[in-house]
Amino acid sequence: MCGIIGVVGSSDALPILLEGLERLEYRGYDSAGVALQDAAHLWRARSASGTESVSALIDLCESAPRDASAGIGHTRWATHGAPGEHNAHPHTDCSGGLALIHNGIIENHAELAEALTARGHVFTSVTDTEVLAHRIEEFRREGLNLEESVRATLNEVRGAFAIAVLDIEEPNVIVAARRVSPLIVGTAAHCTYLASDVPAILDRAERFYVVDDDQVCVLTPQGFHVTDLTGAPSTLNELVVNWDLEAAQKGGFDTFMEKEMHEQPGAITATLLDRVRDGDIIFDELRIEDDRLRHVEKVTLVACGSSYHTAMVAKYAIERWARVAVEVDIASEFRYRDPIVDGTSLVIGVSQSGETIDTITALREAKSRGAMVVAITNIVDSSMAREADAVLYTRAGLEICVVATKTVLAQIVALEMLALRLAQLRGTLSAADIESLLERLHEIPALVEHVLASDAAVARVVEEVKDTRDFFFLGRNVGYPTALEGALKLKEITYVHAEGYPAGELKHGPLALIEPGVVVIAMITNEELKEKLFANLAEVKSRGATVIAVAHENNQDVAAVADYVLWVPVTVSLLSPLLDMVALQQFAYHLAQARGLNVDRPRNLAKTVTVE
Ligand code: G6P
Repeated sequence: MCGIIGVVGSSDALPILLEGLERLEYRGYDSAGVALQDAAHLWRARSASGTESVSALIDLCESAPRDASAGIGHTRWATHGAPGEHNAHPHTDCSGGLALIHNGIIENHAELAEALTARGHVFTSVTDTEVLAHRIEEFRREGLNLEESVRATLNEVRGAFAIAVLDIEEPNVIVAARRVSPLIVGTAAHCTYLASDVPAILDRAERFYVVDDDQVCVLTPQGFHVTDLTGAPSTLNELVVNWDLEAAQKGGFDTFMEKEMHEQPGAITATLLDRVRDGDIIFDELRIEDDRLRHVEKVTLVACGSSYHTAMVAKYAIERWARVAVEVDIASEFRYRDPIVDGTSLVIGVSQSGETIDTITALREAKSRGAMVVAITNIVDSSMAREADAVLYTRAGLEICVVATKTVLAQIVALEMLALRLAQLRGTLSAADIESLLERLHEIPALVEHVLASDAAVARVVEEVKDTRDFFFLGRNVGYPTALEGALKLKEITYVHAEGYPAGELKHGPLALIEPGVVVIAMITNEELKEKLFANLAEVKSRGATVIAVAHENNQDVAAVADYVLWVPVTVSLLSPLLDMVALQQFAYHLAQARGLNVDRPRNLAKTVTVE
């Protein structure tokens, strides 16, 4: 997730771009850059100073031309290519006369780059983006104008993009286009803007428009015109904006948590993008030889908090699909128990931030014992990413709310893709089975949308139980880590007592706590084990508990055991946490709202924990 902004028609584009970039920093900040165009020049500045990138860019811009009438700016959240000035946007073509910014992932960048290099283009970055600048350059040389060249280029591209392009040959024009990644256009008298989202241009533009997939917009000081990728005329839908800045940064949602829950389909789509090629699962950044992965004898996953729960889901998936023994450990415990790992072990640290000290030290311990160490993280070049032998990135974009939502789902997707890769290498699943599971995985974003759309129904259930003081979450198989995550979410943002249990363990203790007034929430989304869950629920119901089931929409039997149901669509059992957890996030969210609590900043908690 990156942030982009552009303006054409201003008497001084620079302050507009810099202010917009500051407001877009929440979309990423590992590097930032601008390109400005006046009648005869293209001026570019880029900075890669981590969290300080935008302020460092502002310093660099002291020498910028102050009369540029057009400009583009970018704040980067690295996906392909480490954070660094050479990878920062805008990227240019070989002539330096064309500048381009991009948010998204170009899936077929490698093949395009190979062909462009063979034709003499020189690349200065290791991003997936730069191919676009060089390919547009080629079409320009063939005599197409900028708009035609952008269309021709995008017709060759697979993946996600929101782009904006400046060309010294066509002053006072920006060509922008979008597929998947967000893009809006804004207009005011004599000035036209583009941005990833509204806050960047909120008090500049007077009217706002949403760019749709595969629309190409040509922005001039007088306004814009739009075509589809064939060149046929098209139109933009107007967006009615009556938000203040804070509301705009939350995308119109009340809280960052709610916004990030709604970003989950996109986070999953981005994490899957470009990782299946000709049936093969490929992780460009996971630089471990196939043979080493094939002969792994044991996998150990270490993590904390919500990431520990996703690691637990991965255990079920890796053991089932790849038939390798898996251990999961709380990172703070791993290091102090003299763990048995060696050169035949694969140790995976799972961490949204890549900075959790317990997980970092656990990975160091594993490394010192000769294990192959992989980090799964959302932050490019984080400490864990740097220290591990290899890294696999989730691509959820920056998460602001303290409690993890979209990064959790993205971790499960990345881990399950890794499980399928191991199965592929070890020959433990047939090609047909892998293909079918990948298809089911690619269905998940739409199914998550479906769960999100059931929000009002979840809120109604919450209304019935909002004064409850004790919640028990039960599940079997992957329903168990789902139960743990549901209980954790509830604890984190509502401060009520909640525990997650494997349903079969209930009879070994917790059953003694069940009485009228207690709410039991059960995951009934595993077809093979649902009869056993029904038996557990009969036990708690007969002791007076209120039962809420998370169940498949086609499950007719659930009414007999549950007082209330949170319905989710059907998927294969090992993927069910990706849907069930969303329903549990909504449940916790509405309970917190009912209690008037600040979900984005729960008491006593921090987003990144760098102390032991
Ligand atoms: C903190 C956060 C949790 C997170 C945990 C692990 O406790 O509040 O949301 O799950 O750290 O963080 P990590 O960045 O390692 O995934």
